[in-house]
Amino acid sequence: MFPAQGVILLCFISNVVYTEKTTSPNIVIILADDVGWNDFGLHGSSQIPTPNIDALGYNGVILDKFYTQQTCTPSRAALLTGNYPMRLGLQGIPLNAGENRHLPLQTPTLPEKLKELGYINHLVGKWHLGAACSEYTPTKRGFDTHFGYWNGYVGYFNYEISVPDPLDPKRNFTGFDLHDNFTPKWELKGQYATDLFTKKSLEIIKNHRVEKPLFLMLAHLAGHTGYDGIELGVPDAVTANRKYHYIKSIERRSYADLVNIMDSSVGEIVGALSEKKMLQNTVILFFSDNGAQTEGLYQNFGSSWPFRGLKFTLFEGGVRGTGVLYSPLLKKKNYVNRRLIHVTDFLPTFYRVAGGDVDKLGNIDGIDQWDTISGNAPTNRTEILINIDETSGYSGVIGYGGRYKLLNGSFSNGLYNGYYGDSGRNLEDPSYNYSSVINSPTNLAIEKLTNRSLNRSIIDELRRKIDLGSCRSMNRLYLCDDLCLFDLYIDPCETTNLIDDGNLRGVVGKLYGKLSVYMKDVVPDVSHRIDPDSDPKRFNGTWSCWSKCGRDFH
Ligand SMILES: *[C@@H]1O[C@H](CO)[C@@H](O)[C@H](O)[C@H]1NC(C)=O
Ligand SMILES: *[C@@H]1O[C@H](CO)[C@@H](O)[C@H](O)[C@H]1NC(C)=O
Ligand SMILES: *[C@@H]1O[C@H](CO)[C@@H](O)[C@H](O)[C@H]1NC(C)=O
Ligand SMILES: *[C@@H]1O[C@H](CO)[C@@H](O)[C@H](O)[C@H]1NC(C)=O
Ligand SMILES: *[C@@H]1O[C@H](CO)[C@@H](O)[C@H](O)[C@H]1NC(C)=O
Ligand SMILES: *[C@@H]1O[C@H](CO)[C@@H](O)[C@H](O)[C@H]1NC(C)=O
Ligand SMILES: *[C@@H]1O[C@H](CO)[C@@H](O)[C@H](O)[C@H]1NC(C)=O
Repeated sequence: MFPAQGVILLCFISNVVYTEKTTSPNIVIILADDVGWNDFGLHGSSQIPTPNIDALGYNGVILDKFYTQQTCTPSRAALLTGNYPMRLGLQGIPLNAGENRHLPLQTPTLPEKLKELGYINHLVGKWHLGAACSEYTPTKRGFDTHFGYWNGYVGYFNYEISVPDPLDPKRNFTGFDLHDNFTPKWELKGQYATDLFTKKSLEIIKNHRVEKPLFLMLAHLAGHTGYDGIELGVPDAVTANRKYHYIKSIERRSYADLVNIMDSSVGEIVGALSEKKMLQNTVILFFSDNGAQTEGLYQNFGSSWPFRGLKFTLFEGGVRGTGVLYSPLLKKKNYVNRRLIHVTDFLPTFYRVAGGDVDKLGNIDGIDQWDTISGNAPTNRTEILINIDETSGYSGVIGYGGRYKLLNGSFSNGLYNGYYGDSGRNLEDPSYNYSSVINSPTNLAIEKLTNRSLNRSIIDELRRKIDLGSCRSMNRLYLCDDLCLFDLYIDPCETTNLIDDGNLRGVVGKLYGKLSVYMKDVVPDVSHRIDPDSDPKRFNGTWSCWSKCGRDFH
């Protein structure tokens, strides 16, 4: 039983147990896309103002050793199923538009589990877990409504995405992808995605009937690149350029603006929850699905500084997640949590918060971390399978309570094995704007609830505790081909490959053994081909479910 709940009514009718609660907490997950560790003010940079997200963390819990998957589809699959994506065949390259891959139908999702406990579930924004047939889409996978897009990204204003025509690579399949459940919303073309998704989320909160608990997942397009995989969509590029003049890269100025606008959206959501008197019984989790794509395909000029690697890699720059959780129901607040937490843990954690019996979830990879997050209790998680991508040939595992990481191979022969991204600690960068945090809609709403106020010294202390900037100075044995071992406690920047350290041979053997065991469970990630039948031209220029349902392509 969740301690903060009121009455729990149990009726035993024959063998069936009905559990009914009137006060299960509302759950709000806000997900950023490809936004790096260093693109949030709370991690020590003041280049990009994120006062609302920072305020959520300062008032709640900042997750320091929180790990995601390396890219979008695997992270979202892990979040929504509580399982490592290699058990679902979704561990590899994220889904292209027009692919038949999808979340396996027999695997329960977080909204499906919450529905059993009486929740009303809404998804706003990105899905990216398959849409070949309607059975694969959000409203058939536990969400009561979905307003947003099915694919990996769309234009910030035109909501279009293109993929190569599988039969004629000189041409593209191009289509519109903004759906209200199954209805294309052509009339909304031209409106800015972050605003549209915020507006929709505010409507959901406003219209929510508070007798039932709410699960709202707002999965932003920001800061992924938009149209053609290159657009850094902002409402006014000239203003963005002026506002962020101190940032060297002009593209990063746009990126800063779109991240900042997403941050304002967080403030509006928290404000709406407060106004509706729902905030006092809500758990809000904000996180970014993976590290930044500073360079390469879908380059967004984000920054995972000081970490090594980018999105797609299993270095900290790809998988060390930015995560903050706020709830008045937390036992301990205003602190940095250093326990090992994985994105698969949120399904059992939220199921527990909702009043569910975690033992009934069966054999999943995630574990209930509510006591760990809420009260800083020791975690039962001692290791994380970061990923096994058997197609691209790279994998990694973290063991010894988060201390040692073993990597076997790297993404695309080491393409992103270096260090990237702006430090945000340049002379020209402004100093941290405390008052913008203290006066943020998020902080004001929380203050109103608790009568406790943030001040400069609390903020300074938390920022000092979470800032890992100094780890870059260690640069010693940089090289990392095939097998690499890192001591993350003393070297979170992964500068020093310890694979040849004789004293650590046992550690390497043990972690390699773990990888080998997981390897046996891999469900192959098959068929990345784009289905010729998916061509949006067949559907009036809109991405639509193109396949007969009932056939499982997996
Ligand atoms: C196809 O789409 C890609 C990426 O969106 C774009 O760069 C390219 O110009 C398009 N090609 C054609 C022929 O439209
Ligand atoms: C952690 O593991 C111990 C021992 O197996 C168990 O008693 C306890 O319930 C677990 N805690 C959580 C939160 O799962
Ligand atoms: C800090 O942010 C506030 C908005 O919250 C703004 O009015 C003020 O000018 C900013 N201060 C500085 C020094 O930039
Ligand atoms: C906060 O302060 C106001 C006015 O001082 C008071 O009425 C209210 O009960 C307090 N709320 C909490 C949660 O302490
Ligand atoms: C800041 O807030 C904390 C906790 O409420 C308090 O202990 C501390 O004295 C405050 N510091 C200042 C400078 O106001
Ligand atoms: C490690 O990588 C090598 C080379 O790709 C591969 O042959 C081996 O199976 C991998 N081992 C494990 C345990 O993943
Ligand atoms: C086809 O798409 C356009 C928008 O691109 C829309 O205005 C029109 O109503 C659609 N036609 C049909 C038959 O759905």
